[in-house]
Amino acid sequence: MDIRKLVSQMTLEEKAGMLNGRDFWHLKGVERLGIPPVMVTDGPHGLRKQVAQADHLGINASVPATAFPTAAALACSFDRELVGEVGQALGDLCQQEDVAVILGPGANIKRSPLCGRNFEYFSEDPYLAGEIAAAHIRGVQSRNVGTSLKHFAMNNQETRRMTVDVTCDERAKREIYLAAFERAVRKGKPWTVMCSYNKIDGVYSSENAWLLRDVLRGEWGFDGYTMTDWGACNDHVRGVAAGLNLAMPSLGDAADAEVVRAVREGRLSEQVVDDAVAEVLDVVFRYAEHRRKDPDFSLGAQHHLARKVARECAVLLKNDGTLPLSSNRKIAFIGAFAAAPRYQGGGSSHINAYEVTPALEAVRSVAQVSYAQGYAADANDADAKLLGEAVALASVSDVAVVFAGLPDSFESEGFDRTHLRMPDCQNELIEALCAVNDHVVVVLHNGAPVEMPWADKVSAILEMYLGGQAVGGAAVDLLFGAVSPSGKLAETFPLRLEDNPSYLNFPGDGDRVTYAEGVYVGYRWYDARRMPVRFPFGHGLSYTTFAYGNLRLSADTLMQDGELEVSVDVTNTGRFGAKEIAQLYVHSAHAGVSRPEQELKGFEKVYLAPGETRTVTFRLCSRDFAYYNTDIHDWYAEGGAYELRVGASSRDIRLTAAVELAPGKPLPVHVTLDSTFADIRKIPGGEKVYGPVLGDVFKAFGLMDNAAMGGGAAAMAESLLTGTPLHSMKSYTDGRLTDEMLVEMVRQLNDMQK
Ligand code: BGC
Repeated sequence: MDIRKLVSQMTLEEKAGMLNGRDFWHLKGVERLGIPPVMVTDGPHGLRKQVAQADHLGINASVPATAFPTAAALACSFDRELVGEVGQALGDLCQQEDVAVILGPGANIKRSPLCGRNFEYFSEDPYLAGEIAAAHIRGVQSRNVGTSLKHFAMNNQETRRMTVDVTCDERAKREIYLAAFERAVRKGKPWTVMCSYNKIDGVYSSENAWLLRDVLRGEWGFDGYTMTDWGACNDHVRGVAAGLNLAMPSLGDAADAEVVRAVREGRLSEQVVDDAVAEVLDVVFRYAEHRRKDPDFSLGAQHHLARKVARECAVLLKNDGTLPLSSNRKIAFIGAFAAAPRYQGGGSSHINAYEVTPALEAVRSVAQVSYAQGYAADANDADAKLLGEAVALASVSDVAVVFAGLPDSFESEGFDRTHLRMPDCQNELIEALCAVNDHVVVVLHNGAPVEMPWADKVSAILEMYLGGQAVGGAAVDLLFGAVSPSGKLAETFPLRLEDNPSYLNFPGDGDRVTYAEGVYVGYRWYDARRMPVRFPFGHGLSYTTFAYGNLRLSADTLMQDGELEVSVDVTNTGRFGAKEIAQLYVHSAHAGVSRPEQELKGFEKVYLAPGETRTVTFRLCSRDFAYYNTDIHDWYAEGGAYELRVGASSRDIRLTAAVELAPGKPLPVHVTLDSTFADIRKIPGGEKVYGPVLGDVFKAFGLMDNAAMGGGAAAMAESLLTGTPLHSMKSYTDGRLTDEMLVEMVRQLNDMQK
């Protein structure tokens, strides 16, 4: 399809129409030119195609589809291939239902565990979030269906999400919040990106030329179209001028007319409109030209896939050996979620699952269990009768498996949580069960971390998250050891909410929120503060044990444009075939800027039979050592020594190795009269310029005569001088150093670095 030719055949009115939806879920088509009115819809954990009444809150019914594990669970698989398989299944559903773009995945960072929508996001870590998002995107798009990476950007809370203005320093933006999107865009190449509702530094995302043009297209090479989140359009013409392609849902005909008028009055360039339309049409035809009306898949097979995926995502947080269960013991299943699991979150991602497997049903083919409801699913307060029945049952059972977590009313799109507690009735139930039974196993269904006051009393905790429609079957598979748990946490579980770095600045004051914690998000904060946590990032147990050995590097020194291979041998030292997720963290020993203690830069998941050893290999490049330098507004990898840490979690590092990064281009020092001696001293060859000019200053500080001053005094003089700005140096030379001399020196120092 010759897109440019097509655009040249369109009237200005038709072009304006392509930048504004037709209705709730469709773009406009232009029949006379063969442009089809394609559909876009939610996502992202299944397909939410509404056939009758449209809404973006997941209220009205949609076609039956598979509900896969939610993003919060998916990330815990640390498995790019598996997430790709989910993407392919979603793509198949879209082809079958004639959906051109599925809205998602969400790559927003879990800044606070309180965000009501965290179940739709992957991680507190941008590398993991970006890798998993890219895998999801590649999977869907391999079926010639587009994705819409969302919510771009800095949408990290639900409170006042449509108006809140986010203030965040440049490093945190780049290293944390944008980094996840950057990785997803560069590696996944999404066909579309969805702008978030909120403002960033006072500008709505959908009107943010820096975000949409400079960063997304200019730096990251995005070549699809951007659309607003549903209703996120503020000023359409301003948005289009800033690089927005499509307003959704439709703003009505008046918006088309407004774009036409803006072009006619010279307020909006027609070239900008043409480019924006071409970007939309390019994506429309990527889909339209590859329609597969009857893709080869069955919902039954997708249900099996959903069960497999849920198994791979579950995280065994604690186990004293009670798991796996033996089916000939007297086992009680307790809790409303055993009979009706909470397997997905509320809001726009809500899927009309065509089949749901509760654990109580799945267990029938494995073991005989007795059941007590224990609590009312949607209540906070305990029900004495339900509680009593459950305790009575637990007291005559060998093992009590309690299915607990968060009900819908506790977390959802649209609002944030205010605390991390589970309902009182569930906490009370678990405590009461522990009082009568020594083998209490807790299975959790929740979209985000909860406080676990009973954690030390129970025998085992299996975190299933919101694990999709087959989660009950997956839980049974894991509980009885059909497979070993192998997921690891994609986020930290703090001991208490107050420990979280965003605690004092979430959700902000009115329409302002300041990300005062900077780059210290998630484990970056807990590690820097050496704080105890309930369960650390990357943590997850198994029914077997693994040994790590023979850590080796392909070279001792990594060149700035080179690649380093880091290999480690992982051995299954137990008796259970299982998968391990080996993680690689980079620790920077440099003091140039404040940096996190360690950052995840690689992970690999491998299956190992008992006794088997396999080599896991990670690949690093200088960007994996870089921080975002706010002087040059670019990534900068300081040369020098780094430590590579390989382990089973962020707090279970098994092996370390030193590596040297070759020096990069020296950072230019932007010299002004406010620059200190320490600053200008960094300029290679600079002493030739400043030496002759500052001679009197050095004398004044006694630096010409160091020996006479003795160690301490000399060190003090030196430190005083290094902190002295150029404009103050005049004061120490009896007027011999003049403004003119300093200004000329500043000019020369800047020039010599060009
Ligand atoms: C959500 C998006 C969703 C859209 C369409 C919005 O409220 O923020 O994630 O894709 O609605 O349902």
